[in-house]
Amino acid sequence: MPNRSVDFQFLAEPTHVNFGGKVHGGMMMKWMDQAGYACAVGWSGAYCVTVSVGAIRFSRPILVGQLVHLKAQVVHTGQTSIHVFVSADATDPKTSAQRETNHCMISFVATDEAGHIIQAPQWQPVTENDKLLERYAIAMKQLSIQAEQMLNERTLDIPPWN
Ligand SMILES: CC(C)(COP(=O)(O)OP(=O)(O)OC[C@H]1O[C@@H](n2cnc3c(N)ncnc32)[C@H](O)[C@@H]1OP(=O)(O)O)[C@@H](O)C(=O)NCCC(=O)NCCS
Repeated sequence: MPNRSVDFQFLAEPTHVNFGGKVHGGMMMKWMDQAGYACAVGWSGAYCVTVSVGAIRFSRPILVGQLVHLKAQVVHTGQTSIHVFVSADATDPKTSAQRETNHCMISFVATDEAGHIIQAPQWQPVTENDKLLERYAIAMKQLSIQAEQMLNERTLDIPPWN
C-alpha cells in the first residue's frame, strides 16, 4: 500500500508571525497546503493539483518558538479525487504542553505529464476513526459541490477562456 500520511515538524520563527505576534493565518494555510500536497503525491505516486480547500479551522494561535506539527492523511478517494485531512498542533518545547491549533480538508487530483487527470489508488478505511474521517470528507465534498452549483447560477461578467 502507498504511503497514506505525511508529518511535518518545525519551529515557528519570528518571520512567520503577523502584526499581532502570532503565526500568520496565511503561513499556516501554506504549510497545510504543502503537507496535503506531499501526502497526495505520496499516495498517488504522481503530480497532484489542488481541486478545493475547505473547512479550515483556526482554533488556537501558534506562538514563536513553539514546535509546529502538521499531519496530513488520505481519508477518502473518489473516482479520481484524493481527499486529505490536515491537522496541526503546537507544542511548547520547554513544557511539552501540546494543543491542537488547526484542521482542514484538501481535495486533489493526480495528473499525468500532459496534465490529464489520472486515477489514484483507492483508500479503504479500516478503523472507526478512519470511517468517521471518510464520512466527514464525503460530507464536505458534497457541501462544497452544492455550494459551487449555487455560484454557477450567477451571471458572470468575466469572459470565458476560449
Ligand atoms: C483541478 C481540475 C483539473 C479539475 O478539473 P475538472 O474538470 O473540474 O474535474 P472534475 O469535475 O472531473 O473533478 C475532478 C474531481 O474533483 C472532485 N471535485 C470537484 N469539485 C470539488 C469540490 N468543490 N470539492 C471536492 N472535490 C471536488 C470531483 O468530484 C472529481 O472527483 P471524483 O472523480 O472522485 O468524483 C481543474 O479544475 C483545474 O485545473 N483547476 C486548477 C487547479 C489549480 O491550479 N490548483 C492550484 C495549484 S495546484
